[in-house]
Amino acid sequence: MLAVRVPKKEAEKIRRKLLELGVLANGYSIKREGGFVLFPVTEPLDSFELVEAEFEKLENRPHSYREVVEVPEELRPLLPSSFDIIGDIAIIELPEELMPCGRAIGEAILKVHRHIKAVFAKGGKVEGEYRVRELIHLAGENRTVTIHRENGIRLRIDVARVYFSPRLATERMRVFERAQPGEIVFDMFAGVGPYSILLAKKARLVFAVDLNPWAVCYLEKNVRLNRVNNVIPILGDVRKVAGKIKADRVIMNLPKFADRFLREAMLSVRPGGTIHYYGFGPEEDLYSEHEAMIRAIARELGLTVEFLDRRKVRPYAPRQFNIAIDFSVR
Ligand SMILES: C[S@@+](CC[C@H](N)C(=O)[O-])C[C@H]1O[C@@H](n2cnc3c(N)ncnc32)[C@H](O)[C@@H]1O
Repeated sequence: MLAVRVPKKEAEKIRRKLLELGVLANGYSIKREGGFVLFPVTEPLDSFELVEAEFEKLENRPHSYREVVEVPEELRPLLPSSFDIIGDIAIIELPEELMPCGRAIGEAILKVHRHIKAVFAKGGKVEGEYRVRELIHLAGENRTVTIHRENGIRLRIDVARVYFSPRLATERMRVFERAQPGEIVFDMFAGVGPYSILLAKKARLVFAVDLNPWAVCYLEKNVRLNRVNNVIPILGDVRKVAGKIKADRVIMNLPKFADRFLREAMLSVRPGGTIHYYGFGPEEDLYSEHEAMIRAIARELGLTVEFLDRRKVRPYAPRQFNIAIDFSVR
């Protein structure tokens, strides 16, 4: 069922908020997942990260596709307990053995989750410069364009042509909460604009760059959809733009390769401005390698670094996390 996913330390505050809003689903136990807590909710909410998850149930109506799907008994333990929802599209990661049952799984998801209209399986890893992955249609409409609601904004997305992860909603809100009114923001890897458009609500100007023409096409649509007039979409390699902008806040949401763009980020931030750096790190030492790299590049440029915050954003792979480091340079 639909769930709100929040970092553990914010769980109690958000539980009270969900109760206040009257959207916390009754009769289920909450669920813990890494450093996060999942609350079952009765309707989609704009300002929280939404995921699909199973909870210990108390009623008879099926709440999970796993209760209704027909697969060989020996494969049942392999059925994933959660999947992503982007707008009205579900994207599930199936192990190889379950792929022949893909249609049945897709149909079961459609049956139990009436707001979902199309189901796809992940066809591989997120790859290439554009950070997209192949999708395999399982059931429902064979359509990859949808409108996703998050943090009070609407995003039109083609899930087959651009990168988008609904699991970053909480992180995006965290960056928004740290932003000050009137800032100049530089979103170096903007995608369809989930950071840019959200931050446009506070910023004076947002420069939003992406290499993928489809991402910039949807970013432009989303600027219109959300009626913001202070986002400047730029199609191209961020290296061509960096250094020409002096921003108060720089967002480097390209965790796989952000380290390669640290110089560009540091040359594009005003003294004392904030850089939001993302990367991947092993559980046993999440930050050291990244922080050493940040220090080394700053030293080369004759700058000093102040680390402001660091955090786990989400689990990425077994014993690997997507991490964030906020820092400033002078
Ligand atoms: C991980 S996605 C993040 C997108 C967006 N910030 C979000 O949260 O959904 C990274 C994006 O960076 C873009 N990208 C990769 N290399 C780039 C480069 N050298 N210059 C500009 N954009 C680039 C990709 O096309 C992709 O859309």
